[in-house]
Amino acid sequence: MADLAELERAFEARYGLTPSLFRAPGRVNLIGEHTDYNQGLAMPAALQLGTTLAIARRAEPRLRITSRVFDESIEIALEDRAALRESRPRGHWSDYVIGVVLALWRHGVPIAGADLLVASDIPLGSGLSSSASFEVCLALALSQTSQSPLSPLTLAKLCQEAENDYVGTRCGIMDQFASVFGRENHALALDCRSLEHRLVPLGGTTQPGTRLAATLVVCNTMVRHAHAGGEYNRRRAECEAAVSHLARALPHIRSLRDVSLADLSAHGADLDPVIGRRARHVVSENDRVLQAVHALEAGDSIRFGELMRSSHRSLRDDYEVSCAELDLMVSIADDIDGVFGARMTGGGFGGCTVNWVRQDAVEAFVAEVSGRYAAATGRTPAIYRCATADGAAQIGVQDAAT
Ligand code: GLA
Repeated sequence: MADLAELERAFEARYGLTPSLFRAPGRVNLIGEHTDYNQGLAMPAALQLGTTLAIARRAEPRLRITSRVFDESIEIALEDRAALRESRPRGHWSDYVIGVVLALWRHGVPIAGADLLVASDIPLGSGLSSSASFEVCLALALSQTSQSPLSPLTLAKLCQEAENDYVGTRCGIMDQFASVFGRENHALALDCRSLEHRLVPLGGTTQPGTRLAATLVVCNTMVRHAHAGGEYNRRRAECEAAVSHLARALPHIRSLRDVSLADLSAHGADLDPVIGRRARHVVSENDRVLQAVHALEAGDSIRFGELMRSSHRSLRDDYEVSCAELDLMVSIADDIDGVFGARMTGGGFGGCTVNWVRQDAVEAFVAEVSGRYAAATGRTPAIYRCATADGAAQIGVQDAAT
């Protein structure tokens, strides 16, 4: 985690005020990829990697925000709402700020002027939700500082709206939900339709003979993804096309969540082949999440690992969101003793793999993946022995509204 005392001192030196501090985690998704916007099932966990933000109110109705990630400051004038509403995203980090401000206003939060300093230890474009973590941290800090606290569910939904309505990625709710509701040492078995979730313990105490202690390791291919607007939104449209087509035979369906594998074989034969494969991924992935929750709850790491591997194959072949580097990273992992399973995580097209690795095999795993991946690609991968974390919260002592 960022050095809080240092961030506080830097804020005081820059603005002459003592700030309140907020933190929101990134996430890794264990399984259930590209299911959230199909009202399906996913299993993310919040990470210790996250966004940290220092904030203090100021009298003027302006936000002055300095990002350490981009080494840049921006100012947002809050008095001219119409100008912000009419503005268009420009592919800059300020898009997330404006998206959050507009969403807060829509939810009736009167945003007070403030100075902010933002830091993050999530690598950008790595599939670990640096943007959701930033949105959640910002929305939490602005609402608390403006004395209009939001319910956790509203916080998550509002941040998804910021991204859908302003930034322009038609993402689901998984990332923002995980950043708000995550729990240390747990994954969330999340139903993206009802928004109910259950905590699934990760690698907890081992009962001899039934549980093999395992841990999450995340490997960064160092290939950055950029899915705003492009392939990501196309996948979502393809899923909608599958639903429209299948609804002719299955009028009750509202999303791919309502479709079973049996429905697909009975009524999917005349689907466009690409659309059919997209649908098969989503429908089979929902089923894998159900099985994966049971496997983890039963301490069955072997079964859990098999499900991760078939999830990766489905994302690679049917959904076509993997890339050569992700496939290589996964196949290296598959060969290593002590790896139960590996798969790409997040939106795809680059970013990270998630690996479920036997506790006593982690050191050897890290050394072997680093060596073999670097030898094959010339890129040195970043590898995180991922500790999980609690969801977004104010940290530090001072109340945000004073
Ligand atoms: C991105 C999106 C999420 C989700 C994943 C794929 O991270 O932000 O909503 O769709 O891709 O599972």
